[in-house]
Amino acid sequence: MKTVAVVGTQWGDEGKGKIVDLLAADADVVVRFQGGNNAAHTLVVNGEKFILRLIPAGALHPGKVCVIGNGMVVDPIALAGELDELRGRGHFTDASLLKLSCDAHMVMPYHRAIDRAREARAGNRAIGTTGFGIGPAYEDKMARVGLRFDELANFARFRTRLARNLADKNAYLKAVLKAKPLGISEIVDQMKRVRRRLLPYLCDTGAYLAEAIAAGKRVLFEGAHGTMLDIDHGTYPFVTSSNCIASAALAGAGVAPGRLDAVLGISKAYTTRVGAGPFPSEIKGRLADRLRTEGEEFGSATGRPRRIGWFDTVLARFAARLNGTWGLALTKLDVLTGIDPLRVCVAYQVGKQLFYEMPPGRSALERVRPVYEELPGWSESLSDAQAVDDLPSNARRYLERIAELSGARLAMIGVGASREATIVLSNPFLA
Ligand code: GDP
Ligand code: IMO
Ligand code: MG
Repeated sequence: MKTVAVVGTQWGDEGKGKIVDLLAADADVVVRFQGGNNAAHTLVVNGEKFILRLIPAGALHPGKVCVIGNGMVVDPIALAGELDELRGRGHFTDASLLKLSCDAHMVMPYHRAIDRAREARAGNRAIGTTGFGIGPAYEDKMARVGLRFDELANFARFRTRLARNLADKNAYLKAVLKAKPLGISEIVDQMKRVRRRLLPYLCDTGAYLAEAIAAGKRVLFEGAHGTMLDIDHGTYPFVTSSNCIASAALAGAGVAPGRLDAVLGISKAYTTRVGAGPFPSEIKGRLADRLRTEGEEFGSATGRPRRIGWFDTVLARFAARLNGTWGLALTKLDVLTGIDPLRVCVAYQVGKQLFYEMPPGRSALERVRPVYEELPGWSESLSDAQAVDDLPSNARRYLERIAELSGARLAMIGVGASREATIVLSNPFLA
């Protein structure tokens, strides 16, 4: 298959970055199509850790084109910083490899200020956003007042529009959010500097991708966040402000329907979530603390401790349906070593009623009780496993049961954070 999308099937942080980095070896182009630097995708290559927020996770392979698609909201200052960091570490040095959509929207300092001031005022109703201005930037896009990268070509016009937007935002910050207004001169100075840096990367990325696909190049679409954070299908309002499911790859990259050959869903072997909102299979107490420590479950974007839960097959079936997944990569199986018994959520219960599929109306998730099946654990370390046959029999049984209940073909199994610590059963580019 030539075009493959990788998407998260839970609440983000499933290990998409690691799998995209692995698959990028067989791709020509890697494309981000939604979200912004609220994403944090971790790659561990040759013992070195990299966290990519805006640049696609193909950047550590020499010669791969990385595309920032029109569906993203991009903080230009953060993008320049991420480029500097990667280059400082000797990667992604060829400027012709980055293609930044002229139509992507810019996240401006006032978006961050609004995001943070709103969250601070919301108290216990807060969503627990990353505070990077993502929601306010998408609001401006939909309100048709957003600033896109192509505006940078004519800086005088950009400055006028910026001033108009800032006046509105400052009025809102002061009067409604009781927060400090922002000065224009500092933003203009920053944008002047960043403009010179980023103009060379601007591109009609939809046209570039159409040509690449027509030429038979392999294109990998890198989803951010996860199905349950999707603005339409997730646990609204405790979601992010973009569509995160596979179909968003089309609109967010400017690629026509029918041009996507396969979708690889990524799940952890358990579940995590950062921020507020319902989480039916959540675990609290010592077991959660243990998994959090062993799985290093602290948000890579904000450092916040991630909430922990058992694997949830209701979510897995929901994600398989929405994304039309060809296969599933199950990461972090190694983290479950030593936990016995293991539990898997097989259904939700409300009163006497059992739901094997997602109950209608996502607020129903706040009332459901998880129904668990228990499976025996294992004590052996998995870190050296290179094939399914190297895994202890109870680990194989756990995988088989998850695949069966999720209705998914297991394509990859993660047994450690590094690129190599992945058992590949089926590579979509080679299938
Ligand atoms: P993403 O946002 O989906 O790319 O995921 P993150 O990078 O935010 O979080 C996943 C974390 O798990 C990162 O720290 C990865 O290095 C790590 N990781 C990924 N796969 C595995 C795995 O199979 N085993 C272990 N132990 N860690 C993994
Ligand atoms: P990756 O791509 C985990 C969560 C935030 C918050 C909600 C809204 O690394 O998997 P936002 O700043 O987007 O308005 O916050 O969404 N969230 C993520 N959680 N991983 C992510 O990305 C996330 N991106 C957003 O914690 O609950
Ligand atoms: Mg992440």
